Amino acid sequence: MKIIDLKNSSDYSLLKSAAEEIKDGKLVIFPTETVYGLGADGLNENAVNNIFIAKGRKTDNPLILHVSSIDMVYKIADNINEIEKKLMDNFFPGPLTIVLNKKECVPNIVTGNLDTVGVRMPSSIIARTLIEYASTPIAAPSANISGRPSGTIVEDIIDEFNGKVDTIIDGGSTKIGVESTVVRVINNEIHILRPGYITKEDLETIGVNVIIEKHILSDIEKNDVVMSPGMKYKHYAPKTKCILVYSSNKDLLIKKMQELEENNKNSLVVTKDENIKYFKNTINMGSTLNEISHNIFRILREVDKKNVDFVIIEGVEKSGLGLAIMNRLIRACSHNYIEL
Ligand code: TXA
Ligand code: MG
Repeated sequence: MKIIDLKNSSDYSLLKSAAEEIKDGKLVIFPTETVYGLGADGLNENAVNNIFIAKGRKTDNPLILHVSSIDMVYKIADNINEIEKKLMDNFFPGPLTIVLNKKECVPNIVTGNLDTVGVRMPSSIIARTLIEYASTPIAAPSANISGRPSGTIVEDIIDEFNGKVDTIIDGGSTKIGVESTVVRVINNEIHILRPGYITKEDLETIGVNVIIEKHILSDIEKNDVVMSPGMKYKHYAPKTKCILVYSSNKDLLIKKMQELEENNKNSLVVTKDENIKYFKNTINMGSTLNEISHNIFRILREVDKKNVDFVIIEGVEKSGLGLAIMNRLIRACSHNYIEL
């Protein structure tokens, strides 16, 4: 496995060999502004199949095709309407994935047999240069074994993919940290299928009604303890048992978290900078939503290295970028969630 170091260098010509590998049907891990992607030539059925094998992903879960130009969008998608064009004008390149009608050239393995395809133009220069050199859309899910937290630094994922991919491009820590927002336009309205860095409020600026899909909200509106033992929703999950706690009332929140810390021996508290002082064994998640988004997947991996039996995680308000963060944290905690 080859590592291309673009953490300490901005010599993008180093990406040419990785682009050749993509053209040859091989697997390349590359950074984007959100998380690392596990990439292959999106028009090569065999290569895409190898993504599913390397990641251990179910083949009915469709992949996003990453493009470097609007021309490339039109090569893979059909019947693009005015709202979709407006979304591209306003948010490409950037952390938005638009589900469009797919063209014949997109293999069914990419889309899990759907007649739509998720398309995203990353703002990361490394990602876009790689796609441009490979001159093909790159299919890429987040670089993590299925069910694990997404990779935001190479150090976190190198062991998971050692021997399974041909090249890893190290671009350092990804800027945003949570994945792109996935949207689909239906009957002239924008539906958010997965919350991400681009918020509902951001999308509304183009003057179109935006709907958050029900499954996202119902998942995060439970306000009693759901000690769900099932692995049904397991995603982004540390191996250590975790609980998520949120209250808009800070006193209540701290009191509940302290009580949980007291009642669970050998526990760890993942909390905001300003609340570190209230607990014994802590990891600092940052203070702003941007910082928390940047840090959260790295922290979800770090907790397993701390040799603790129980992790208490502070939640955030479910609005703006907080919606995406809470969507990931609730799954990371397998729905063990208390809201006060
Ligand atoms: O930020 C990101 O989006 C990262 C980076 C690498 O670009 N990628 C990523 O890919 O998160 P993945 O595969 O981990 O998540 C893609 C999500 C999945 O929830 C998938 O079900 C949804 O997008 N998706 C992809 N194509 C779709 C389609 N045609 N219709 C509906 N949902 C789709
Ligand atoms: Mg993923």
